Amino acid sequence: TAGAAAWAGGVFDPRLVTPDSPLVAQTEAARRRPGAATVTARLNPRPVTHDLGGPTVTTWGYADSGPGPLIRARAGDLLRVEVANGLPVATSVHWHGIALRNDMDGVPGVTQQPISAGGRHTYEFTAPDPGTYFYHPHSGVQLDRALYGVLVVDDPHEAGRYDAEWVVVLDDWVDGTGRTPDDVLSSLQSMAGHDMGDMNHGGMSGMSMGGMETMVSPLLGGAGDVAYPHYLINGRVPAAPVTLTARPGQRVRIRLVNAASDTAFRVALGGHRLTVTHTDGFPVVPTTTDALLLGMGERADVTVTLSDGAFPLVAVAEGKTGQGLAVVRTAAGARPPATARPTELDGGVLVSGALRAAEEVALTDRQPDRVHRLVLGGGMMPYRWTINGATFGHADPLLVGRGERLRLEFVNTTTMFHPMHVHGHTFAVTGGGARKDTVIVTPRRRVTVDLDADNPGQWMTHCHNIYHAETGMMINLAYR
Ligand code: C2O
Ligand code: CU
Repeated sequence: TAGAAAWAGGVFDPRLVTPDSPLVAQTEAARRRPGAATVTARLNPRPVTHDLGGPTVTTWGYADSGPGPLIRARAGDLLRVEVANGLPVATSVHWHGIALRNDMDGVPGVTQQPISAGGRHTYEFTAPDPGTYFYHPHSGVQLDRALYGVLVVDDPHEAGRYDAEWVVVLDDWVDGTGRTPDDVLSSLQSMAGHDMGDMNHGGMSGMSMGGMETMVSPLLGGAGDVAYPHYLINGRVPAAPVTLTARPGQRVRIRLVNAASDTAFRVALGGHRLTVTHTDGFPVVPTTTDALLLGMGERADVTVTLSDGAFPLVAVAEGKTGQGLAVVRTAAGARPPATARPTELDGGVLVSGALRAAEEVALTDRQPDRVHRLVLGGGMMPYRWTINGATFGHADPLLVGRGERLRLEFVNTTTMFHPMHVHGHTFAVTGGGARKDTVIVTPRRRVTVDLDADNPGQWMTHCHNIYHAETGMMINLAYR
């Protein structure tokens, strides 16, 4: 394919990851648990009508409402997921956060051919590490329709540490008047040459674009580019929220996933503090906080011991206007209002970069063999985002050798923040920080991460603001 052909000469040879290659046989065998199960699932991306709990939208999804099917396996199991593409366009499925074999990573033009409209494709890989992950297309801005679902990989050694578990997925929603994420993307791109006054007449008023003010966040200096009319938790607007029930005194694990394309959320549960135990699947030194910031593509597992009553679980859109809501209920009583704003939101806000890795997943002490600096640049006018001055496909891949310790320095020269994601690996924020696959780089700041290059292939490294990634803020990390 074009993407692979463009740079295959001299670097990673895609033939190394064909199904019968020794490299794949070797890495798969090392990841498989003795006595592992084969977990099968089916995904059928298709045009759907979703009832968001009032607003009804025509979109594309993996399910008739809300997120796609929850896929669940144990660490070391083999996953076999058959995709039947019912969309009118080509698609793909990427397994966000999983250290899997490269040819199953789901990046069209790089690791596979796109799955054509009406076509089929089977993904088959071993999921080596327990944790909370998700899946979504790696095709344009399809993620922003409703094409996402959660993949939970259970730890075979961990049982009974909590009484209940909830999977809570956050999303931003474009609108219900037929405007699609692709329309949003072309609107953003057509801003070039127009002043902001023109922009508001250029067909964007219908989606309540907030204009430049949406770029400035009180906390971080700008979360996203687009103001959305709806924020969803598990596919529902705040007026008709999902209810999560348990008994008072129960200890609940909440698996939070930010599947939004353009929105970071500040999350809090009224009347409770949250103890963060994992970020992006990997354990951290448990840290208790009033509220938590979750960037696009990030996950956090938190535990709470529930009080008696009905409480708002709120996800406030960072730097924008609006919030998502779910109701946590352990007793009868009035439902919190759609606009509930727990005081915890104004307490301490934990950013995942401040978490410490749990000892068992901390990287060994080692100097980097190689350092790549990624200067994050670009902007709104014209709408284009860059790494080292180039958009995706116009820069050489970042090279790494198998077995090396690689350091990536993300340097943000812009006034917005960028949740930077690396495929196929879990890095550590330097200085003992958490193991993660997605880390927010705040405006004008730098974040340095280290990873062990132990998964040969070609791996996308990009901003998880899908609009930034799609307009250029993406680069290939390739084994040489
Ligand atoms: Cu969820 Cu390339 O990312
Ligand atoms: Cu970005």
